[in-house]
Amino acid sequence: MSLHTLISKDSIDTRIRELAIEITRDFEGQELIVLCVLKGAVLFLTDLIRAMDRDLAIDFIQVSSYGSEKKSSGVVTILKEPQLDMHGKGVVIVEDIIDSGMSIREVCRYIESRGAAKVKVASFLDKPAARKYPFVPDYIGFTIEPAFVVGYGLDYAERYRNLPEVAILEE
Ligand code: IMP
Ligand code: MG
Repeated sequence: MSLHTLISKDSIDTRIRELAIEITRDFEGQELIVLCVLKGAVLFLTDLIRAMDRDLAIDFIQVSSYGSEKKSSGVVTILKEPQLDMHGKGVVIVEDIIDSGMSIREVCRYIESRGAAKVKVASFLDKPAARKYPFVPDYIGFTIEPAFVVGYGLDYAERYRNLPEVAILEE
């Protein structure tokens, strides 16, 4: 397997500062929960919230993922539920990547059923060409071609999450 850098750490830092400003502005005057989809979005979450100059709460949700495969199993189950009361609040769901669109669709349905006043989705990466379930995120870090990528939280069989940049993983 070999790694080829796709998005540098500097580009990530710059883009996250822009997203933080945009999200802060869109949720002005409203209580905000930043909801991280485990585990891939952890690095995105921690950098994003540090760049947001406002009061906020964080929470976590985990859904079934790819396991150790590069392809989806086709079923989404909730492995860890969020703890905070979302009634009347603003929620921004923070995802690592949207591929087929199946996971984020289920997460959105679930969060909307918990009474949030406003729900938006921020995805660090978007692979629109791989979509099987139509979904357009409200905030996108970077739009990429449908290659398998790792780093900055994204894994292959739990490896490479700690790479500070995004790389294409090739056999
Ligand atoms: P979806 O349900 O097909 O949209 O897949 C979303 C989830 O699959 C993401 O949250 C990732 O955990 C994982 N995933 C999709 N594409 C990649 C990739 O290129 N690298 C690493 N994980 C990926
Ligand atoms: Mg994964």
